[in-house]
Amino acid sequence: PINAGGGCPVHKDAARSLLGRTNKDWWPEALPVDILHQGGVSPDPMGPDFDYVKAFKSIDYQALKADLTALMTDSKPWWPADYGHYGPFFIRMAWHAAGTYRTADGRGGANSGQQRFAPLNSWPDNGNLDKARRLLWPIKQKYGQQISWADLFILAGNVAIESMGGPVFGFGGGRADVYEPEKDIYWGEEDLWVDQGAETRIQPEKQLDLENPLAAIQMGLIYVNPEGPGGNPDPLLSARDMRITFARMAMNDEETVALTAGGHAFGKAHGAIPADQLSGSPESEALEKMGFGWATDPEQIASGKITTSGIEGAWSNNPTQWGGDYFRLLFKYDYKLVHSPAGAQQWTPINPDPEDMAPDARDPSKRVPTMMTTADMALKMDPEYRKISERFRDDQAALDDAFARAWFKLCHRDMGPKARYHGPEVPKEDLIWQDPVPAGTMPSDADVAAFKSKILASGVAASDLIKAAWASASTYRKSDHRGGANGARVRLAPQNGWAVNEPEQLAATLAKIDELRGSLSMADAIVLAGSAAVEKAAKDAGYDVAVPFTGGRGDATAEWTDVESFDVLEPRADGFRNYLSNKFSVKTEELLIDRASLLGLSAPELTALVGGLRVLGANHGGRSHGVFTDRVGQLTNDFFVNLLDMETFWEAVDGSGEEEFVGYTRGGRTERWRATRADLVFGSNSQLRAVAEVYAEKGNEQKFVADFVKAWVKVMNADRFDLA
Ligand code: HEM
Repeated sequence: PINAGGGCPVHKDAARSLLGRTNKDWWPEALPVDILHQGGVSPDPMGPDFDYVKAFKSIDYQALKADLTALMTDSKPWWPADYGHYGPFFIRMAWHAAGTYRTADGRGGANSGQQRFAPLNSWPDNGNLDKARRLLWPIKQKYGQQISWADLFILAGNVAIESMGGPVFGFGGGRADVYEPEKDIYWGEEDLWVDQGAETRIQPEKQLDLENPLAAIQMGLIYVNPEGPGGNPDPLLSARDMRITFARMAMNDEETVALTAGGHAFGKAHGAIPADQLSGSPESEALEKMGFGWATDPEQIASGKITTSGIEGAWSNNPTQWGGDYFRLLFKYDYKLVHSPAGAQQWTPINPDPEDMAPDARDPSKRVPTMMTTADMALKMDPEYRKISERFRDDQAALDDAFARAWFKLCHRDMGPKARYHGPEVPKEDLIWQDPVPAGTMPSDADVAAFKSKILASGVAASDLIKAAWASASTYRKSDHRGGANGARVRLAPQNGWAVNEPEQLAATLAKIDELRGSLSMADAIVLAGSAAVEKAAKDAGYDVAVPFTGGRGDATAEWTDVESFDVLEPRADGFRNYLSNKFSVKTEELLIDRASLLGLSAPELTALVGGLRVLGANHGGRSHGVFTDRVGQLTNDFFVNLLDMETFWEAVDGSGEEEFVGYTRGGRTERWRATRADLVFGSNSQLRAVAEVYAEKGNEQKFVADFVKAWVKVMNADRFDLA
């Protein structure tokens, strides 16, 4: 449970580290380019002033689409297009770029172009997509920074669908590239990949659920094993895996069926030669391979003897044309289990009519049998999937609509609110999974000032105002840009009932804010109330600072809030409020770091916020842990001064599972303070301690207050895409 949000936490025998297996484990000898990016040095060659959205808006979008359309049928001898059309290949590339998204922490997905980097560029499931990306390079080069790789992957998928007569719902651009592998993402802790015999993550005999928050069933896969769970060709078990893994990506049964069947209307699987004839993955290959992996003999490639998944053949008799042939064939024939030339298990139709055979990928005059994977057979054999499949078989328009919408969702699910979509093809229609928030209005300075003085005089405790504002804003996660204070969803289900938010107290605070807010939106008033309380706390400590406030937030409605999809945002651990719902397999301080990372905070920002929130009394349930001050409610650096005081020594409380600690005065056993791991980590971890020392130093009291305010405002405004 990396983010301790959503789903049932997996309790493992042994603790695991936050990040599980990382690139360093897989490729110990990889060039350590990241040593060049220490001390705040960015790996991004475009620099901080580059504005991708602005560049994208200036592109000749229709020319780009025309170039992409032409590319689809411009077959290159070094990687010839099956059936003379690269469309299916690009659809798979786009689907695998988007398909790593998981709802639990919002990480993965297409929005930063991660498929270019390890480990994704070398995952077995991404086999040969290195070639797809290189086929796109001339276009990327031509349009330069006007189109990011991340956008190009998805747009190429869209154009591919269109160019084969398929339905699309729209395209939103705006995915800015990054220039390094994401370091904050947990891909699993197994030390083997799927092709090396990694265990499947769903093991009924162990009653072990898919590890939260992972979407894929085995290390190195995007979703499920096409041959069935752990290679067991059982369509019903495959359906079980599909249902769980697609739900982890916010897809229901209908979307799952539409996507899989719609995708497999196109193209073919590749398993013409045994996999042991392939060279290593891109990340492990020799220098002169120039980033290509899975190499074989060029003549074999030219003749179509290619292995990717190991499964061989097309699903349909018309693999470069959108239509209903996938379902027609799936239901027309009985299928029997056979082995591909590469040895994979797959299903072949029994006695197919000649017109239902597929063209050969290199020679259209030849006809070859079609096939289904075990996962495709699930769409026919699983009773729930079957109902949907039959409906789609009989109603092409329904499939068109469902596929177009599900594809759009797949590719845009991690982009956040619609304000972040750009370009001429952004659909007008609002969709509930975009968490829509109606536009707000900018409150007048007079209204802001009036509300501030009223709420501070209302008798509501400052700590409650601060907690309400934190509860509202801190759901934000930069991974998929969901959550945040805009919309004031903290007052709606499910957030108003989350244990971390202390529902009763929150309701009372929000009622008072509502009563006094005048013309302000609730979303603005909640933030402003918290910020006013911070400002007052600073003043009470002797620091005259203004906490900047930018209004204009709107209030979302319950009708436009998908309650279930917000469940995953529930913090089950929030070190900022010293809250832990239960013990997790990941250490509490790692969960704190993870939350800070999702909020987009640096170590100094994290440190300033925790130190400030403690002395402001913002702990969950008024816990005294970490409140190292005798003047609670004043914004001082007392947390740091007392945490680092050499006259205190710390011991774990017996039976607390090392979650609770007592600070005693040296030379005696007088209890001075209580603390959690989310407090003591600022003294025990050398890096965080170095920052904490700065805030404890004489002369830095005011700096601390200023830094706290800055970090606070950053969290309050984290989701203000409407301002940019
Ligand atoms: C190809 C499995 C879902 C689109 C393949 C291949 C496999 C596979 C084994 C063959 C790869 C190769 O050997 O070249 C699965 C499984 C899925 C799934 C198990 C989920 C249960 C999807 C989805 C889409 C999609 C959701 C897109 C909407 C494609 C396309 C190809 C393909 C277009 C053909 C690529 C080409 O012709 O080169 N898939 N897939 N698949 N998949 Fe899927």
